[in-house]
Amino acid sequence: MRELFVIGIGAGDPDQVTVQAIKAMNKADVFFVIGKGDEKQDLVDLRTGILAEHVTGPYRVVDIVDPPRDRTPSDYEGVVDVWHERRAALFEAEFASEPGVGAILVWGDPSLYDSTLRIVERVLARGNVSFDYSVIPGVTSVQSLAAQHRIVLNRIGEPVHVTTGRRLAEGLPDGVDNAVVMLDAHCTFTQVPGDDVQIWWGAYLGTPDEVLISGRLRDVEDEIQRVRAELRERKGWIMDTYLLRR
Ligand SMILES: C[S@@+](CC[C@H](N)C(=O)[O-])C[C@H]1O[C@@H](n2cnc3c(N)ncnc32)[C@H](O)[C@@H]1O
Repeated sequence: MRELFVIGIGAGDPDQVTVQAIKAMNKADVFFVIGKGDEKQDLVDLRTGILAEHVTGPYRVVDIVDPPRDRTPSDYEGVVDVWHERRAALFEAEFASEPGVGAILVWGDPSLYDSTLRIVERVLARGNVSFDYSVIPGVTSVQSLAAQHRIVLNRIGEPVHVTTGRRLAEGLPDGVDNAVVMLDAHCTFTQVPGDDVQIWWGAYLGTPDEVLISGRLRDVEDEIQRVRAELRERKGWIMDTYLLRR
């Protein structure tokens, strides 16, 4: 492969694919699509739908099936490292057999809780294949959350903290009054103390299944938990993000 584009495609709304992303997609001969298992087939379908809508010339799609990963390890960083190396080896094999221009479509933007760029760097560091690559930014789920709720993430002059459910479980750091929480499978907001916290929650943002709930955390936390469980049960998977403000 002589060139690779890592393209952010937005967090679910096909209309939020940028013009730059569409131009890059139309230069690619092959798209490497990473599947995470049956429950996320909807997400794979969304990506292939974006290709069908925006790419005019012929192209090929190569599915790369994610290696399984221990989700409850004692050594989290060690397990992720092994998993990234296995993913890098899979990508390397596909890149080596591709003579033209490749592209990887990344959910949201590649800069936010996504390992594609680390894997691409890891493939290059292994030294078995060489290529140029560039990154095309996309609309993140955080931007989508803010737009759908019509909110600013911070009050005037305040910082915004972006974190995961796992880290939120350790408590919000002192001085953090605005926190965007991603990758939270356990409704960790219920563990955040205080009667003065607001939440803006969104699931399946940008898709036809989008659900938004907002209000005083103590007033709406039970409703969010219930709705989240129902949605997850119905679709088999869920992606949700929220802003907490003290
Ligand atoms: C692995 S991270 C990827 C984030 C992505 N790179 C981005 O720019 O938004 C996946 C997390 O992003 C959030 N997310 C992504 N898409 C979403 C969507 N359409 N609706 C709600 N949350 C979403 C969820 O918190 C999910 O657990």
